[in-house]
Amino acid sequence: MRNYKVAVAGSTGAVGREMLKMLERLDFPVGEIRLLASSRSAGKKPTFKGREITVEELSPEWIVNNDLDMVIMSAGGSISEKYAPLFRDKKIYVIDNSSAWRMDKDVPLVVPEINSATLSKDKYIIANPNCSTIQMVHALAPLHRKAVIKRIIAVTFQAVSGAGQKAISELEKESRQIVESGFAEKKLSNKDFSPFPRQIAFNCIPQIDVFMENAFTKEEMKMVNETKKILDPSIELSVTCVRVPVFRGHSEAVNIEFSNDISADEARKLLEKEPGIKVIDDTASLKYPTAIDADGELETFVGRIRKDESRPNSLWMWIVSDNLLKGAALNAVQIAQKLIEII
Ligand code: A2P
Repeated sequence: MRNYKVAVAGSTGAVGREMLKMLERLDFPVGEIRLLASSRSAGKKPTFKGREITVEELSPEWIVNNDLDMVIMSAGGSISEKYAPLFRDKKIYVIDNSSAWRMDKDVPLVVPEINSATLSKDKYIIANPNCSTIQMVHALAPLHRKAVIKRIIAVTFQAVSGAGQKAISELEKESRQIVESGFAEKKLSNKDFSPFPRQIAFNCIPQIDVFMENAFTKEEMKMVNETKKILDPSIELSVTCVRVPVFRGHSEAVNIEFSNDISADEARKLLEKEPGIKVIDDTASLKYPTAIDADGELETFVGRIRKDESRPNSLWMWIVSDNLLKGAALNAVQIAQKLIEII
């Protein structure tokens, strides 16, 4: 098997660092690795497979002067909008973790267990879906194949790491401030909780990203539109996304109405057979997955599968995964693995 020249753009960020670890952990055939970030991080030396690699500044000139097989990008939407076409024009594959290209009809939006068939040799930009979307569709796809999903209602409980390194530091800082005050100070007076719209420590914020005209947030509409693109445009769905003071691991309470009857047991059995899914569902012995269980793990975890007694053909379930892994870096590297089978 040949080895590939791979770059990771945004390599110093919360997701980028996990991308390096996933390339190692999945033993992706990397011949040469290049690490890219902004000028702020150029010169830093993270390690890859035990070797220090110097971070270089991503720029149009860098792209002109260097050859690659593929770049995995996690540097934010505006960076992807600007740079992905430059890579594409040099026939370098771009696996992009931002939302910039996801809804472009010429760009495959891929969860490898579901739709790797949408990859093709001549499509150089490939979008990695939103973290909350990936784990939900991963767990719902086998059920949709069996009983045809009509409608989904979901509420997410999303970790701060989904908003990047600054967000992780903000939760640490606020938590420390409150704990060090001996809990005397529970409501922080900071006017600017950047990057969050409110205090995140010991709080829940029903706003992720900006509000749209329809009163949903951009994050909520990402889940709606991406799920339709990946699973089936005829599925109706409605979502509330909540940021919670968890470092790693998104949790989701999901209600699914099917066209055909499906029991909780049938759903459990289908999910147990699905690659990358781990069912932890035994309420008699208090077994269900939580974000802490998912931290650092590759699987999408499912529990609390139960009939919704208020409606026919309907189930509730609880879906948890590490948002930086299956929700981002792992899914991106799995896309890269599928891509090298066809290029
Ligand atoms: P840098 O470390 O130089 O700021 P996070 O999601 O954790 O905030 O990380 C964002 C990633 O995107 C970081 O690696 C960051 O690099 C990178 N990044 C931000 N702006 C740019 C830019 N203009 N060009 C290239 N990489 C960028």
